[in-house]
Amino acid sequence: MTPLWIHRLAHRAHRAGVPVLPRLLYAVNRLVYSVALPPSVQLGRDVVLGYSGLGTVIHARAVIGDRVTIGTCVTVGGRSGHHAVPVIESDVEIGSGAKVLGPIRVGAGAVIGANAVVLHNVPRGAVMVGVPARVVRIQDGWGPAPAPSTPPPPRDE
Ligand SMILES: CC(C)(COP(=O)(O)OP(=O)(O)OC[C@H]1O[C@@H](n2cnc3c(N)ncnc32)[C@H](O)[C@@H]1OP(=O)(O)O)[C@@H](O)C(=O)NCCC(=O)NCCS
Repeated sequence: MTPLWIHRLAHRAHRAGVPVLPRLLYAVNRLVYSVALPPSVQLGRDVVLGYSGLGTVIHARAVIGDRVTIGTCVTVGGRSGHHAVPVIESDVEIGSGAKVLGPIRVGAGAVIGANAVVLHNVPRGAVMVGVPARVVRIQDGWGPAPAPSTPPPPRDE
């Protein structure tokens, strides 16, 4: 039994409107693994929680993409004066102790350094460090997102 397995069960029960059970499962994760993963959090596939999520806190409305790796003592949460909370796209790595806060989007493939405090949108593939976090480089192969393809114009007959 892992915290992610428990969370998935809680999330399904939450979506199905099952009373009490989601909060119980949430409490089990808090007590056993010291991870705060509210039942409403949307977690993608193959997410990894370092050390079973020790000390990590994720906001109830946060969205976490596929294959995201989250280190220990990470906070993904709100910022005073803002309702929206972070959206973490796929293949992001969040280092130990990092804080990702507010109405921001962390682009696919980004790497957030240990103890960084991320307050603004993060470009795809960016490596972010510091407080507040800044881009130190863009990793190879992660340029800007491709423009959505538009259908060709209709041909005159
Ligand atoms: C952010 C990180 C991925 C950068 O790795 P990298 O791409 O190899 O980058 P570098 O080590 O070349 O560092 C680039 C610059 O950022 C700085 N830097 C790296 N990590 C930093 C961090 N966490 N906080 C502040 N500055 C950092 C370096 O000092 C360097 O600055 P300089 O160019 O002025 O010398 C890595 O340092 C990191 O923090 N990984 C997370 C590790 C972790 O959480 N492990 C958990 C184990 S349980």
